[in-house]
Amino acid sequence: MQCPRKAVILLLVFIVIQYTAIKTFIGKPFQMLPIPNLLNCGLVQEAKPSERVSDPNLSHKVPRKTHILILATARSGSSFVGQLFNQHWDIFYLFEPLYHVHTTLLYPQAHMPGQVNAADQRWMLGPSRDLLRSLYSCDLSSLEGYIKQVHGNHTTNKLFRQGASRALCSPPVCTAFGLCQTNIAESDCAVRCPTLNLSLAADSCMEHQHVAIKTVRVQEVNDLRPLFEDPQLNLKVIQLVRDPRGILSSRIDTFRKAYWLWWIWAATGQKPQNLPVTQLTTICDDFLSSVSTAMSRPPWLKGRYMLVRYEDLALNPLQRTKEIYDFLGLAMDKNVVDWIQKNTRGSSQWFSRGKYSTMRNSAANAESWRYKLPYDIVKYTQTACQQILQELGYKTVISLEELTDRSVSLIEDKKIDPFL
Ligand SMILES: *[C@@H]1O[C@H](CO)[C@@H](O)[C@H](O)[C@H]1NC(C)=O
Ligand SMILES: *[C@@H]1O[C@H](CO)[C@@H](O)[C@H](O)[C@H]1NC(C)=O
Ligand SMILES: *[C@@H]1O[C@H](CO)[C@@H](O)[C@H](O)[C@H]1NC(C)=O
Repeated sequence: MQCPRKAVILLLVFIVIQYTAIKTFIGKPFQMLPIPNLLNCGLVQEAKPSERVSDPNLSHKVPRKTHILILATARSGSSFVGQLFNQHWDIFYLFEPLYHVHTTLLYPQAHMPGQVNAADQRWMLGPSRDLLRSLYSCDLSSLEGYIKQVHGNHTTNKLFRQGASRALCSPPVCTAFGLCQTNIAESDCAVRCPTLNLSLAADSCMEHQHVAIKTVRVQEVNDLRPLFEDPQLNLKVIQLVRDPRGILSSRIDTFRKAYWLWWIWAATGQKPQNLPVTQLTTICDDFLSSVSTAMSRPPWLKGRYMLVRYEDLALNPLQRTKEIYDFLGLAMDKNVVDWIQKNTRGSSQWFSRGKYSTMRNSAANAESWRYKLPYDIVKYTQTACQQILQELGYKTVISLEELTDRSVSLIEDKKIDPFL
Protein backbone atom coordinates (compact mmCIF):
# COMPACT_ATOMS: atom_id res chain seq x y z
CA MET A 1 0.00 0.00 0.00
CA GLN A 2 1.17 3.50 -0.89
CA CYS A 3 1.18 6.19 1.69
CA PRO A 4 -0.96 9.12 0.53
CA ARG A 5 1.10 12.29 0.06
CA LYS A 6 -1.47 14.41 1.81
CA ALA A 7 -1.29 12.34 4.95
CA VAL A 8 2.49 12.61 5.11
CA ILE A 9 2.36 16.39 4.72
CA LEU A 10 -0.33 16.64 7.37
CA LEU A 11 1.74 14.56 9.71
CA LEU A 12 4.78 16.77 9.14
CA VAL A 13 2.78 19.92 9.73
CA PHE A 14 1.38 18.38 12.90
CA ILE A 15 4.83 17.54 14.14
CA VAL A 16 6.13 21.05 13.48
CA ILE A 17 3.18 22.63 15.29
CA GLN A 18 3.57 20.28 18.23
CA TYR A 19 7.27 20.97 18.42
CA THR A 20 6.79 24.73 18.39
CA ALA A 21 4.03 24.52 20.96
CA ILE A 22 6.07 22.34 23.28
CA LYS A 23 9.08 24.56 22.87
CA THR A 24 7.29 27.79 23.72
CA PHE A 25 5.43 26.10 26.52
CA ILE A 26 8.49 24.57 28.14
CA GLY A 27 10.95 27.28 27.20
CA LYS A 28 9.29 30.10 29.09
CA PRO A 29 8.75 28.56 32.48
CA PHE A 30 12.26 27.16 32.37
CA GLN A 31 13.80 30.56 31.97
CA MET A 32 11.65 32.15 34.60
CA LEU A 33 12.04 29.46 37.22
CA PRO A 34 14.05 30.91 40.10
CA ILE A 35 16.88 28.43 40.37
CA PRO A 36 18.12 28.19 43.92
CA ASN A 37 21.73 29.21 43.96
CA LEU A 38 24.33 30.35 46.39
CA LEU A 39 23.66 34.00 45.70
CA ASN A 40 20.08 33.65 46.87
CA CYS A 41 21.22 31.96 50.07
CA GLY A 42 23.63 34.57 51.22
CA LEU A 43 22.12 37.75 49.81
CA VAL A 44 25.59 38.51 48.54
CA GLN A 45 26.06 41.96 47.23
CA GLU A 46 28.03 42.60 44.11
CA ALA A 47 31.73 42.95 44.48
CA LYS A 48 33.19 46.39 44.62
CA PRO A 49 34.29 47.92 41.32
CA SER A 50 37.92 47.75 42.40
CA GLU A 51 37.69 43.98 42.61
CA ARG A 52 36.46 43.49 39.10
CA VAL A 53 38.69 42.26 36.35
CA SER A 54 40.51 44.91 34.41
CA ASP A 55 39.10 44.01 30.99
CA PRO A 56 36.46 46.73 30.59
CA ASN A 57 34.31 44.44 28.46
CA LEU A 58 34.05 41.93 31.24
CA SER A 59 34.15 44.24 34.16
CA HIS A 60 30.41 44.40 34.59
CA LYS A 61 30.03 40.67 34.79
CA VAL A 62 32.96 38.89 36.31
CA PRO A 63 34.37 39.96 39.65
CA ARG A 64 37.88 38.69 40.05
CA LYS A 65 38.41 35.55 42.08
CA THR A 66 40.11 36.26 45.38
CA HIS A 67 42.39 33.65 46.90
CA ILE A 68 42.39 34.19 50.63
CA LEU A 69 44.93 32.62 52.95
CA ILE A 70 44.59 32.76 56.70
CA LEU A 71 48.16 32.49 57.89
CA ALA A 72 48.12 31.49 61.52
CA THR A 73 49.68 29.34 64.16
CA ALA A 74 48.09 26.66 66.32
CA ARG A 75 45.94 28.04 69.15
CA SER A 76 45.90 31.61 67.86
CA GLY A 77 42.19 31.68 67.10
CA SER A 78 42.47 30.47 63.52
CA SER A 79 39.35 28.29 63.61
CA PHE A 80 37.40 31.36 64.63
CA VAL A 81 38.82 33.44 61.80
CA GLY A 82 38.24 30.56 59.40
CA GLN A 83 34.56 30.66 60.25
CA LEU A 84 34.37 34.31 59.25
CA PHE A 85 35.00 33.09 55.71
CA ASN A 86 33.42 29.66 55.90
CA GLN A 87 30.03 31.19 56.66
CA HIS A 88 30.07 33.39 53.57
CA TRP A 89 27.99 31.89 50.79
CA ASP A 90 30.27 32.80 47.99
CA ILE A 91 33.49 31.57 49.57
CA PHE A 92 34.72 28.01 49.28
CA TYR A 93 36.60 27.38 52.51
CA LEU A 94 39.06 24.63 53.32
CA PHE A 95 40.20 23.94 56.85
CA GLU A 96 43.90 23.07 57.03
CA PRO A 97 44.45 21.01 53.87
CA LEU A 98 48.22 21.13 54.46
CA TYR A 99 47.67 18.75 57.35
CA HIS A 100 47.79 15.99 54.74
CA VAL A 101 51.07 17.19 53.29
CA HIS A 102 52.76 17.22 56.68
CA THR A 103 51.41 13.96 58.05
CA THR A 104 51.98 12.08 54.80
CA LEU A 105 55.43 13.35 53.88
CA LEU A 106 56.82 13.68 57.39
CA TYR A 107 55.61 11.56 60.27
CA PRO A 108 52.15 10.91 61.66
CA GLN A 109 52.70 13.08 64.72
CA ALA A 110 53.69 16.03 62.53
CA HIS A 111 50.25 17.47 63.12
CA MET A 112 51.32 18.55 66.60
CA PRO A 113 52.69 22.05 66.85
CA GLY A 114 56.27 22.15 67.94
CA GLN A 115 56.95 18.61 66.67
CA VAL A 116 58.30 19.49 63.23
CA ASN A 117 61.89 20.64 63.13
CA ALA A 118 63.10 23.59 61.09
CA ALA A 119 64.67 21.50 58.31
CA ASP A 120 61.48 19.52 57.80
CA GLN A 121 59.47 22.72 57.81
CA ARG A 122 61.60 24.00 54.98
CA TRP A 123 61.35 21.01 52.74
CA MET A 124 57.59 20.93 53.21
CA LEU A 125 57.36 24.36 51.61
CA GLY A 126 57.55 23.25 47.99
CA PRO A 127 54.81 20.61 48.22
CA SER A 128 52.72 22.93 50.42
CA ARG A 129 52.84 25.78 47.94
CA ASP A 130 52.09 23.44 45.04
CA LEU A 131 49.05 22.11 46.82
CA LEU A 132 47.81 25.59 47.72
CA ARG A 133 48.20 26.67 44.10
CA SER A 134 46.16 23.68 42.90
CA LEU A 135 43.47 24.12 45.50
CA TYR A 136 43.04 27.79 44.64
CA SER A 137 42.38 26.64 41.07
CA CYS A 138 39.77 24.19 42.43
CA ASP A 139 41.89 21.23 41.44
CA LEU A 140 40.99 19.07 44.40
CA SER A 141 42.35 15.93 42.83
CA SER A 142 45.78 17.24 43.85
CA LEU A 143 44.83 16.29 47.40
CA GLU A 144 44.52 12.66 46.46
CA GLY A 145 48.24 12.03 46.54
CA TYR A 146 48.36 13.13 50.16
CA ILE A 147 45.35 11.32 51.55
CA LYS A 148 46.15 7.75 52.31
CA GLN A 149 42.74 6.33 51.53
CA VAL A 150 41.28 7.62 48.32
CA HIS A 151 39.27 5.05 46.39
CA GLY A 152 39.59 4.59 42.64
CA ASN A 153 36.26 6.38 42.29
CA HIS A 154 37.75 9.59 43.77
CA THR A 155 35.95 9.31 47.07
CA THR A 156 37.48 9.40 50.53
CA ASN A 157 36.39 9.21 54.15
CA LYS A 158 39.65 10.61 55.38
CA LEU A 159 39.75 14.30 54.56
CA PHE A 160 40.94 16.02 57.73
CA ARG A 161 38.10 17.94 59.42
CA GLN A 162 35.85 17.77 56.36
CA GLY A 163 32.92 18.89 58.48
CA ALA A 164 34.64 22.19 59.21
CA SER A 165 33.99 23.26 55.65
CA ARG A 166 30.41 24.30 54.99
CA ALA A 167 30.71 23.71 51.24
CA LEU A 168 31.74 20.09 51.82
CA CYS A 169 28.58 19.52 53.88
CA SER A 170 26.22 21.14 51.37
CA PRO A 171 24.86 20.29 47.93
CA PRO A 172 26.14 19.32 45.47
CA VAL A 173 28.82 17.64 47.63
CA CYS A 174 26.50 16.27 50.29
CA THR A 175 22.73 16.36 50.12
CA ALA A 176 22.06 15.62 53.79
CA PHE A 177 21.70 19.34 54.45
CA GLY A 178 19.93 21.99 52.39
CA LEU A 179 21.81 24.38 50.16
CA CYS A 180 20.93 27.36 52.30
CA GLN A 181 21.37 25.74 55.68
CA THR A 182 23.55 27.68 58.06
CA ASN A 183 25.41 26.71 61.20
CA ILE A 184 25.91 23.06 60.34
CA ALA A 185 27.71 21.50 63.30
CA GLU A 186 30.96 19.85 62.33
CA SER A 187 30.06 16.64 64.15
CA ASP A 188 26.68 16.45 62.37
CA CYS A 189 28.38 16.81 59.04
CA ALA A 190 30.91 14.13 59.91
CA VAL A 191 28.07 11.71 60.63
CA ARG A 192 25.76 12.60 57.77
CA CYS A 193 28.35 13.25 55.06
CA PRO A 194 30.91 10.51 55.74
CA THR A 195 32.11 10.06 52.17
CA LEU A 196 33.53 12.89 50.17
CA ASN A 197 33.40 12.81 46.39
CA LEU A 198 36.36 14.94 45.38
CA SER A 199 34.94 15.58 41.90
CA LEU A 200 31.82 17.05 43.43
CA ALA A 201 33.93 19.06 45.84
CA ALA A 202 35.79 20.53 42.87
CA ASP A 203 32.46 21.40 41.23
CA SER A 204 31.39 23.17 44.40
CA CYS A 205 34.66 25.06 44.53
CA MET A 206 34.09 26.24 40.98
CA GLU A 207 30.60 27.44 41.80
CA HIS A 208 31.89 29.72 44.52
CA GLN A 209 33.38 33.04 43.58
CA HIS A 210 36.25 33.00 46.07
CA VAL A 211 38.43 30.43 47.80
CA ALA A 212 39.72 30.73 51.36
CA ILE A 213 42.20 28.40 53.01
CA LYS A 214 43.33 28.38 56.61
CA THR A 215 46.72 27.06 57.57
CA VAL A 216 48.96 26.84 60.60
CA ARG A 217 51.60 25.03 58.52
CA VAL A 218 53.33 27.89 56.80
CA GLN A 219 55.76 29.67 59.06
CA GLU A 220 55.98 33.16 57.70
CA VAL A 221 54.71 35.34 54.91
CA ASN A 222 58.01 35.25 53.04
CA ASP A 223 57.47 31.55 52.43
CA LEU A 224 54.51 32.45 50.25
CA ARG A 225 56.31 34.85 47.97
CA PRO A 226 56.12 32.60 44.86
CA LEU A 227 52.34 32.48 45.26
CA PHE A 228 52.07 36.26 45.59
CA GLU A 229 54.08 36.59 42.41
CA ASP A 230 52.09 34.01 40.47
CA PRO A 231 50.02 35.93 37.89
CA GLN A 232 47.42 33.16 37.91
CA LEU A 233 46.60 33.89 41.54
CA ASN A 234 45.09 36.83 43.32
CA LEU A 235 46.45 35.96 46.74
CA LYS A 236 45.52 37.97 49.82
CA VAL A 237 46.88 36.98 53.17
CA ILE A 238 45.25 37.61 56.51
CA GLN A 239 47.96 37.01 59.06
CA LEU A 240 46.51 36.23 62.43
CA VAL A 241 48.67 36.89 65.46
CA ARG A 242 47.95 36.49 69.13
CA ASP A 243 49.79 37.26 72.34
CA PRO A 244 52.43 34.48 72.55
CA ARG A 245 51.66 34.12 76.26
CA GLY A 246 48.08 33.24 75.34
CA ILE A 247 49.18 30.84 72.61
CA LEU A 248 51.57 29.04 74.94
CA SER A 249 48.96 28.73 77.68
CA SER A 250 46.44 27.33 75.25
CA ARG A 251 48.92 24.87 73.77
CA ILE A 252 49.90 23.56 77.19
CA ASP A 253 46.20 22.88 77.81
CA THR A 254 45.48 21.39 74.42
CA PHE A 255 48.59 19.49 73.41
CA ARG A 256 49.52 17.79 76.66
CA LYS A 257 51.58 15.17 74.91
CA ALA A 258 53.76 17.56 72.94
CA TYR A 259 53.95 20.23 75.65
CA TRP A 260 54.22 17.94 78.66
CA LEU A 261 57.43 19.50 79.99
CA TRP A 262 55.75 22.89 80.05
CA TRP A 263 52.84 21.26 81.76
CA ILE A 264 55.17 19.84 84.41
CA TRP A 265 56.59 23.31 84.94
CA ALA A 266 53.09 24.73 85.34
CA ALA A 267 52.03 21.93 87.67
CA THR A 268 55.11 21.75 89.91
CA GLY A 269 56.55 25.25 89.70
CA GLN A 270 59.91 23.69 88.81
CA LYS A 271 61.35 24.52 85.40
CA PRO A 272 62.53 21.26 83.80
CA GLN A 273 66.17 21.19 82.70
CA ASN A 274 65.42 19.98 79.21
CA LEU A 275 62.52 22.31 78.47
CA PRO A 276 61.99 22.39 74.66
CA VAL A 277 62.37 26.12 74.42
CA THR A 278 61.97 26.20 70.64
CA GLN A 279 58.33 25.27 71.05
CA LEU A 280 57.93 28.82 72.33
CA THR A 281 60.63 30.70 70.47
CA THR A 282 59.52 29.56 67.01
CA ILE A 283 56.14 31.19 67.61
CA CYS A 284 57.80 34.50 68.34
CA ASP A 285 60.49 34.18 65.67
CA ASP A 286 57.94 33.37 62.99
CA PHE A 287 55.78 36.34 63.95
CA LEU A 288 58.83 38.56 63.95
CA SER A 289 59.95 37.37 60.50
CA SER A 290 56.55 38.07 58.98
CA VAL A 291 56.15 41.42 60.66
CA SER A 292 59.64 42.47 59.59
CA THR A 293 58.95 41.42 56.03
CA ALA A 294 55.67 43.33 55.97
CA MET A 295 57.25 46.42 57.54
CA SER A 296 59.90 46.51 54.82
CA ARG A 297 57.02 46.98 52.39
CA PRO A 298 58.21 44.78 49.52
CA PRO A 299 56.34 45.46 46.25
CA TRP A 300 55.09 41.89 45.99
CA LEU A 301 53.13 42.31 49.21
CA LYS A 302 51.46 45.58 48.33
CA GLY A 303 47.71 45.45 48.84
CA ARG A 304 47.90 41.77 49.72
CA TYR A 305 48.70 41.56 53.40
CA MET A 306 46.77 42.39 56.51
CA LEU A 307 47.87 41.74 60.06
CA VAL A 308 45.09 40.97 62.50
CA ARG A 309 45.45 40.63 66.25
CA TYR A 310 43.17 37.97 67.64
CA GLU A 311 42.49 40.06 70.72
CA ASP A 312 41.16 42.96 68.64
CA LEU A 313 38.91 40.61 66.78
CA ALA A 314 37.67 39.03 70.00
CA LEU A 315 36.87 42.39 71.59
CA ASN A 316 35.09 43.81 68.60
CA PRO A 317 34.29 40.98 66.21
CA LEU A 318 31.78 42.65 63.94
CA GLN A 319 33.75 45.81 63.35
CA ARG A 320 37.04 44.01 62.82
CA THR A 321 35.52 41.50 60.46
CA LYS A 322 34.11 44.35 58.44
CA GLU A 323 37.61 45.81 58.20
CA ILE A 324 38.95 42.48 56.98
CA TYR A 325 36.28 42.23 54.30
CA ASP A 326 36.93 45.84 53.30
CA PHE A 327 40.58 45.06 52.91
CA LEU A 328 39.73 42.08 50.71
CA GLY A 329 37.34 44.24 48.69
CA LEU A 330 34.49 41.84 49.38
CA ALA A 331 31.06 42.40 50.85
CA MET A 332 30.31 40.68 54.12
CA ASP A 333 27.06 38.75 53.82
CA LYS A 334 24.22 38.28 56.25
CA ASN A 335 25.38 34.81 57.25
CA VAL A 336 28.71 36.08 58.43
CA VAL A 337 27.02 38.74 60.53
CA ASP A 338 24.58 36.20 61.96
CA TRP A 339 27.34 33.78 62.78
CA ILE A 340 29.36 36.42 64.60
CA GLN A 341 26.37 37.46 66.63
CA LYS A 342 25.53 33.91 67.59
CA ASN A 343 29.05 32.82 68.38
CA THR A 344 30.63 35.64 70.26
CA ARG A 345 28.05 36.28 72.94
CA GLY A 346 28.55 34.05 75.89
CA SER A 347 28.88 30.32 75.70
CA SER A 348 26.36 27.89 74.41
CA GLN A 349 25.88 24.21 75.10
CA TRP A 350 25.57 23.35 71.47
CA PHE A 351 29.06 24.19 70.32
CA SER A 352 31.06 24.58 73.47
CA ARG A 353 32.24 21.02 73.79
CA GLY A 354 35.72 20.14 72.64
CA LYS A 355 39.02 21.86 72.35
CA TYR A 356 38.36 23.37 68.98
CA SER A 357 35.04 24.97 69.69
CA THR A 358 34.68 28.47 68.42
CA MET A 359 31.41 29.18 70.18
CA ARG A 360 32.19 30.97 73.39
CA ASN A 361 32.63 34.36 74.83
CA SER A 362 35.39 35.44 72.56
CA ALA A 363 36.62 38.45 74.53
CA ALA A 364 36.92 36.61 77.84
CA ASN A 365 38.54 33.68 76.14
CA ALA A 366 41.23 35.78 74.53
CA GLU A 367 42.47 36.84 77.97
CA SER A 368 41.81 33.75 80.03
CA TRP A 369 45.49 32.79 79.96
CA ARG A 370 46.20 35.60 82.44
CA TYR A 371 44.51 33.59 85.18
CA LYS A 372 45.93 30.23 84.14
CA LEU A 373 49.53 30.58 83.11
CA PRO A 374 51.87 30.63 86.13
CA TYR A 375 53.67 33.92 86.58
CA ASP A 376 57.09 32.26 86.17
CA ILE A 377 56.19 31.06 82.70
CA VAL A 378 54.75 34.46 81.85
CA LYS A 379 58.03 36.08 82.88
CA TYR A 380 60.03 33.56 80.91
CA THR A 381 57.91 34.14 77.81
CA GLN A 382 58.23 37.89 78.11
CA THR A 383 62.00 37.58 78.05
CA ALA A 384 62.09 35.12 75.15
CA CYS A 385 59.60 37.10 73.08
CA GLN A 386 60.38 40.63 74.17
CA GLN A 387 60.79 42.14 70.73
CA ILE A 388 57.65 40.77 69.13
CA LEU A 389 55.52 41.60 72.17
CA GLN A 390 56.58 45.17 71.70
CA GLU A 391 56.08 45.18 67.92
CA LEU A 392 52.59 43.81 68.23
CA GLY A 393 51.59 46.03 71.14
CA TYR A 394 51.28 43.47 73.92
CA LYS A 395 52.23 44.90 77.32
CA THR A 396 54.52 43.02 79.63
CA VAL A 397 53.75 42.76 83.34
CA ILE A 398 56.10 43.09 86.27
CA SER A 399 54.11 41.29 88.93
CA LEU A 400 51.51 38.63 89.52
CA GLU A 401 49.16 41.33 90.79
CA GLU A 402 49.41 43.22 87.54
CA LEU A 403 48.98 40.04 85.54
CA THR A 404 45.72 39.13 87.21
CA ASP A 405 44.32 42.63 87.64
CA ARG A 406 41.25 42.71 85.43
CA SER A 407 41.26 46.47 85.27
CA VAL A 408 44.63 46.46 83.51
CA SER A 409 44.56 45.80 79.79
CA LEU A 410 47.60 44.15 78.29
CA ILE A 411 46.60 45.07 74.79
CA GLU A 412 47.88 48.41 73.63
CA ASP A 413 45.61 50.31 71.38
CA LYS A 414 47.78 49.76 68.39
CA LYS A 415 46.34 50.29 64.98
CA ILE A 416 48.19 48.07 62.58
CA ASP A 417 47.45 49.34 59.11
CA PRO A 418 46.89 46.88 56.35
CA PHE A 419 49.59 47.37 53.76
CA LEU A 420 47.58 48.92 50.93
C1 LIG B 1 36.01 45.49 24.00
O1 LIG B 1 35.01 45.46 23.01
C2 LIG B 1 35.25 46.33 21.92
C3 LIG B 1 34.08 46.26 20.94
O2 LIG B 1 32.96 45.72 21.54
C4 LIG B 1 36.54 45.92 21.22
O3 LIG B 1 36.83 46.81 20.16
C5 LIG B 1 37.67 45.95 22.21
O4 LIG B 1 38.85 45.45 21.61
C6 LIG B 1 37.33 45.08 23.42
N1 LIG B 1 38.38 45.24 24.41
C7 LIG B 1 39.00 44.21 24.95
C8 LIG B 1 40.03 44.54 25.99
O5 LIG B 1 38.75 43.07 24.67
C1 LIG C 1 33.92 3.92 45.90
O1 LIG C 1 34.83 2.89 46.06
C2 LIG C 1 34.91 2.35 47.36
C3 LIG C 1 36.01 1.32 47.44
O2 LIG C 1 36.24 0.74 46.20
C4 LIG C 1 33.57 1.76 47.76
O3 LIG C 1 33.61 1.28 49.08
C5 LIG C 1 32.52 2.86 47.67
O4 LIG C 1 31.24 2.31 47.92
C6 LIG C 1 32.52 3.48 46.28
N1 LIG C 1 31.62 4.59 46.33
C7 LIG C 1 30.65 4.73 45.44
C8 LIG C 1 29.73 5.89 45.68
O5 LIG C 1 30.52 4.02 44.49
C1 LIG D 1 31.40 11.76 41.95
O1 LIG D 1 30.83 12.88 41.28
C2 LIG D 1 30.88 12.82 39.89
C3 LIG D 1 30.27 14.11 39.37
O2 LIG D 1 31.15 15.16 39.47
C4 LIG D 1 30.12 11.61 39.39
O3 LIG D 1 30.23 11.54 37.98
C5 LIG D 1 30.68 10.36 40.02
O4 LIG D 1 29.92 9.26 39.65
C6 LIG D 1 30.70 10.50 41.53
N1 LIG D 1 31.38 9.36 42.08
C7 LIG D 1 30.83 8.51 42.93
C8 LIG D 1 31.67 7.37 43.35
O5 LIG D 1 29.69 8.66 43.34
